[in-house]
Amino acid sequence: MANRILLVNGPNLNLLGTREPHIYGSESLADVEASARTAAAAFEWEVDAVQSNHEGELIDAIHAARDTAVGIVINAGAYTHTSIAIRDALVAVGLPVVEVHLSNVHAREEFRSHSYISPIAACVIVGAGVQGYEFAVARLARIRAQSV
Ligand code: DQA
Repeated sequence: MANRILLVNGPNLNLLGTREPHIYGSESLADVEASARTAAAAFEWEVDAVQSNHEGELIDAIHAARDTAVGIVINAGAYTHTSIAIRDALVAVGLPVVEVHLSNVHAREEFRSHSYISPIAACVIVGAGVQGYEFAVARLARIRAQSV
């Protein structure tokens, strides 16, 4: 069985730490990825981390995970609210998906409350900051343990 998970971060998340820190916190994308790797190590998983500001690159990474990963943790950023193509890619690869948002999207602008990903996700975590990624990894582990 594969021992890797795919961690996907979408547009503008490369700016974490400097981007609207009152909303997204002071930790960087490297900090996010390190947290996910630490959480994954507890389950003897490795993390393939991708961040892109380009929808097609995110889709390519999701497709590649089909043969390498046991599940996907994704913060698609603003593509969450717009991208049917990313949703379709997630469905196509057939891996369990946990959706993460650093901020509580439901406490913000109305348009952030709609997600194309949530209906096909196994779990959705919002508003827990970087810890949300740790929760997501732990949730994937529980899902996998129940499915094997
Ligand atoms: C976000 C929430 C989105 O609405 C926003 O476009 C982001 C970040 C979050 O992590 O809270 O880029 O996904």
